[in-house]
Amino acid sequence: MKNLLAIAIFVVAGIIVTFISTSRLEIQGQPSANKCVGECYADYVAANGTIVEQERAKAEAAAAMSPAQLGKTAFVSCQACHGVSAEGGVGPQLAGSDSAFIIDALNTYKASGTRGAQSALMWGVAGPLSEADIANIGAYIQSL
Ligand code: HEC
Repeated sequence: MKNLLAIAIFVVAGIIVTFISTSRLEIQGQPSANKCVGECYADYVAANGTIVEQERAKAEAAAAMSPAQLGKTAFVSCQACHGVSAEGGVGPQLAGSDSAFIIDALNTYKASGTRGAQSALMWGVAGPLSEADIANIGAYIQSL
């Protein structure tokens, strides 16, 4: 009985959330995504290109970026803790450090090594970074 009630609440909540999110799109003047067909889709493609063209343009833009520019895009996920301009916050200030220092620190965290008392906060962050990500982030921070 309890399970049935839980399922019923879950279904009703789902319907409400779906309704609110689609109606909000219309309030903002955006046609809801699943209604953009025919003329709407033709207009979208004329303005933005097809999805394939957009992905190709993104890849070309990324290929043309310098390591520091790529590092800047990767640094977005660090800003919550290290500050928008790496000025520090929850985590220490990074601006002013050279790339060798940053690369060494990130490789230590990536290997679950301890540097300071809060190193555990960095393990989950550094773990997924590739060697190229780490080099790019180092180049970006050195450029600040
Ligand atoms: C959840 C918050 C958080 C996020 C997100 C985060 N950091 Fe950190 N970071 C910290 C903390 C806290 C420390 C200090 C860790 C310690 O005690 O060793 C730290 C330390 C560092 C250090 C060593 C600094 C020094 O002076 O020793 C570097 C380099 C660093 N982080 C880079 C990054 C990069 C690059 C990212 C994004 C990919 C990132 N951090 C994301 C919290 C965070």
